[in-house]
Formats: sequence, C-alpha cells, structure tokens
Amino acid sequence: MSQSVLLLPGDGIGPEIVAEAEKVLHEVNDNFGLDLRFESGLVGGAAIDATGEPLPKKTMERAQKADAILLGAVGGPKWDHLEMALRPEKGLLGLRSGLELFANLRPAILYPQLASASSLKPEVVSGLDILIVRELTGGIYFGQPRGIRTLEGGERQGFNTYVYRESEIRRIGRVAFEAARQRNGRLCSVDKANVLEVTVLWREIMNDLAKEYPDVELSHMYVDNAAMQLVRAPKQFDVIVTGNMFGDILSDEAAMLTGSIGMLPSASMNAEKQGMFEPCHGSAPDIAGQGVANPLATILSVAMMLRYSLNAEEAARAIEAAVSKVLDQGLRTADIMSPDGRRVGTSEMGQAVLAAL
Ligand code: IPM
Ligand code: MG
Repeated sequence: MSQSVLLLPGDGIGPEIVAEAEKVLHEVNDNFGLDLRFESGLVGGAAIDATGEPLPKKTMERAQKADAILLGAVGGPKWDHLEMALRPEKGLLGLRSGLELFANLRPAILYPQLASASSLKPEVVSGLDILIVRELTGGIYFGQPRGIRTLEGGERQGFNTYVYRESEIRRIGRVAFEAARQRNGRLCSVDKANVLEVTVLWREIMNDLAKEYPDVELSHMYVDNAAMQLVRAPKQFDVIVTGNMFGDILSDEAAMLTGSIGMLPSASMNAEKQGMFEPCHGSAPDIAGQGVANPLATILSVAMMLRYSLNAEEAARAIEAAVSKVLDQGLRTADIMSPDGRRVGTSEMGQAVLAAL
C-alpha cells in the first residue's frame, strides 16, 4: 500500500540538506519498490514569510495525513525579533504537540572513521553508542501558566511551569524500556528529584515500570551529574530517558561527543508510529546558502524514517551502509574535516551517498 512522506525543508541550511535527503529517498523508493508518495510544505520562517504564520493550517493538514515527515530545520536571526507565539520555533513545537509526537529518539553514535573529530580523547569515545529518549510534548516546554507578567510595583517577572502527568511519564518510560530491551538492557533515567517534585513523580513511575521489565537494569541520575558523566565516561550509558528540557540539553552534549552534531539524526514518534524525522542540528544561518552544510544527519534521518514509520528496514540499512562507505572513502564536509580527509560540499556529499547506494 502506498505511503506518503511530507517534506518540510524550513529555514537556513534546511532546504539544501533536505534536497540531498530527498534524492536519497527517491533512490531507495525505486530500488526497494517502496511505493512512496511525496508532498512538501512550509514551516518556520519560510512559512512566516509566505503566510504570516510559522505553522500554516495547510501544513498541519498535510502533516496529519502523512505517514512520515522529513523536516530540515527552522529559525534564524531574521525572525528573532518576533514575539514568541509567531517565531519559527513555534512551527516545530506546534507539529510536535499537534501530532502528539511524544517520543523523541536521539542516537549518539561515534563513527569509527570520525573518532579524531571528537573533542574528547579517542579512548573515551571509541565505540560510543547511546540512545537518548527525550519526552517531547510535555514538561516545561508546554506547561501552563507561562508568560511575562508585571508585578505590583512595576517589576516584570517571567514564568514557566514544569509539569508532568503520570500517564505522560509512563508512556515515554515504556518507549525507553522497550528500546533498552532491544539494545544492551541498561536504562538510565535522568531527573532532578533532589529539588523538583515533578521529577520525584517521574522517578517513582520509572521504578514502577521497572517491575514490568525485569530484563532491563534501571538506574537514576541527577541531571547535573549526568551532564558531567557524559563527558567523563560516556560509554557507561546505553539508553537515557529524560524530560523535554533536560533531553534538549543532554542530547546536544551527547551529539558533540561524536565529533559533529552534523552527523546525528532524530525521530519523533507518536503512538500510531507516525513520525517526524529531522537532523539534531539547527538551521545554521551562518553557513546557509553556501553549499557547505553536512547533509548526512538528514540522510540518516531518512533511514530512521524508513525503519520506524515506513516499515522498510532493508532500505534503512542500505542508507546507513552507504553513509559509512562515503566516510570510508574519506569524504568530509567542513564540520567533520580531518587532516587526511577530502573536503566536499553539501551536494557532492549527497551525490556520493547516492553513488554508494
Ligand atoms: C531541538 C531544538 C528545539 C527544541 C528548538 C528549535 C525549539 O533545540 O529540537 O532540540 O528546543 O526542542
Ligand atoms: Mg535542542
């Protein structure tokens, strides 16, 4: 049965990297007889420029109908002056919450070919393979009330609310336990239960779930310690599960262990296996339009899309093998450049992956 993919290039380097990923997607569609249909849409700053809003109704409708979404990146200095509700980031957050994409999977894998690109010593990171499971539609990102108010006396106060319901904790916990079960059987839940009640509840629910997964070894860590352990001895981690904001921060940190955030894909899934797939990096306005951005994180996001939403494991593996092959060939974009590498641009890298496929 035909499945549909919605392409949302977005802003900055988004259009350049999605263009390369799109070619890869067409190639595997033909090679593996996947019968995919493609649509595209506007989100973020590109949507603001065209329609005045970061997530036009038409885009949301297309997203609801799609089996999977490939997103480039959103945001840039051009739109930074806008009020919060009209900023490009709201497009992304609106898609996440509108489609209930509560489970964000962010793998941090060190490609052996790139060991020297990490800022940590090779022995600390070689073989690194961590999966961060970040709750994506709750927590302080979405808690109400929020805003900036004026107090008596005229001073202003900014406020947000950090809340989690039991059911929200339980469903992200299940995703993480299942993932740990498929991997090395170790799950570390990251919280701030020494200070924040919301994470006291988080910890309690995780302990409760652990009874259903006797084959998974559950541990807990405070977020400040987790941030430190990630740079001290990152290989102690297998799967990490945490809330929205801690996950945002720790996933950038984990990404950098691998040398470049330009290599890392992500998946955001709902309960129906519908997913939005995007590189972990942002829109990189400083290098947009120059043809130098690394398209591999987006291409690897296509692999995650095939695996998690489109039921095409074989095609996913083919893409991952092709990426590994181009790294073996010594091809490097600026962000992963090494002394012995051959420097290539965005489209040359995309072309090389196609050839390797
Ligand atoms: C991410 C990004 C987003 C987030 C921004 C762009 C809203 O940093 O996907 O990690 O904070 O979730
Ligand atoms: Mg982030």
